[in-house]
Amino acid sequence: MDNAAVLTLDNEQLYRRLQQEKARRLQAEQALQHATEELARLARITSMGEFAASIAHEVNQPLAAMVLHAEVGLNALTHTPPQLEQARDALKLIMHIGASAGDVIRSIRGMSSKSSPVPTLFGVDDALREVLRLLRAELNKHSIEVCDGLALGEHQLYADRVQVQQVMMNLVLNAIEAMKDVHDRPRRLELRSTLADISGALRVSVEDNGVGVSAKLAERLFDPLFSTKPGGTGLGLSICRTIIEAHGGRIWSTSRQPHGTAFHITLKGNPPWTPPPS
Ligand SMILES: Nc1ncnc2c1ncn2[C@@H]1O[C@H](COP(=O)(O)OP(=O)(O)O)[C@@H](O)[C@H]1O
Ligand SMILES: [Mg+2]
Repeated sequence: MDNAAVLTLDNEQLYRRLQQEKARRLQAEQALQHATEELARLARITSMGEFAASIAHEVNQPLAAMVLHAEVGLNALTHTPPQLEQARDALKLIMHIGASAGDVIRSIRGMSSKSSPVPTLFGVDDALREVLRLLRAELNKHSIEVCDGLALGEHQLYADRVQVQQVMMNLVLNAIEAMKDVHDRPRRLELRSTLADISGALRVSVEDNGVGVSAKLAERLFDPLFSTKPGGTGLGLSICRTIIEAHGGRIWSTSRQPHGTAFHITLKGNPPWTPPPS
């Protein structure tokens, strides 16, 4: 074979190897993406278990209220003549309570289902307050005062609403766990949201006055499986970071004085984030 023929053969072999390498990388990337999604789903289910009591309370309350209003309505109808006005008011209340209980169920279902990121435009403060509502019973149980510094008003974000809520839920659950054994000061959870700069980037903070994190452990908080809790999964914060970074944002923690920990998130506002191709 002459030199030119050898060169062509080499090139062909190199090209084939490159193609094989590309296919292998693609496969590995797909497997990684699949594993990440599965991990996110598992962590969602775990934290679902943690606040199951909270959900039961959230759903039981409207059910009890509906039964009560139904009794009022029935009573009004058994009057002679029937008190139609009162019966109609009772039915309207039942409809209203039923609809908002339905909203709660829908958001819980969203958090536990296996889904890829679906970006939509949504009011950030609204979405964050919805998480607080779901955790209200848990917060009350531990006498935690919530200081609401959500200041974005109607400001909208283009992102996966459920995933952003999941991040919030993990951070608030961690804050509750960090405060529940504190007995020498009132327990306080502070939430803040603001515009970070003129590009429309957002900043959200979740701060507690709980047990805090030592400087030595601070670096490891976001590592998968790192947990200082007996039954902890150590996945919460690593999932938070995966979600925030997939949205082009950043998440980090700082220590608070004299007590507690703060978690901060920045999310790009404009131009809208587009999901990576799957
Ligand atoms: N608000 C907080 N205050 C103090 N420590 C925290 C806080 N949030 C997280 N941590 C620490 O980070 C670790 C990892 O948190 P996370 O990934 O959510 O896993 P898990 O809650 O299952 O332990 C926790 O075990 C805890 O030691
Ligand atoms: Mg956690």
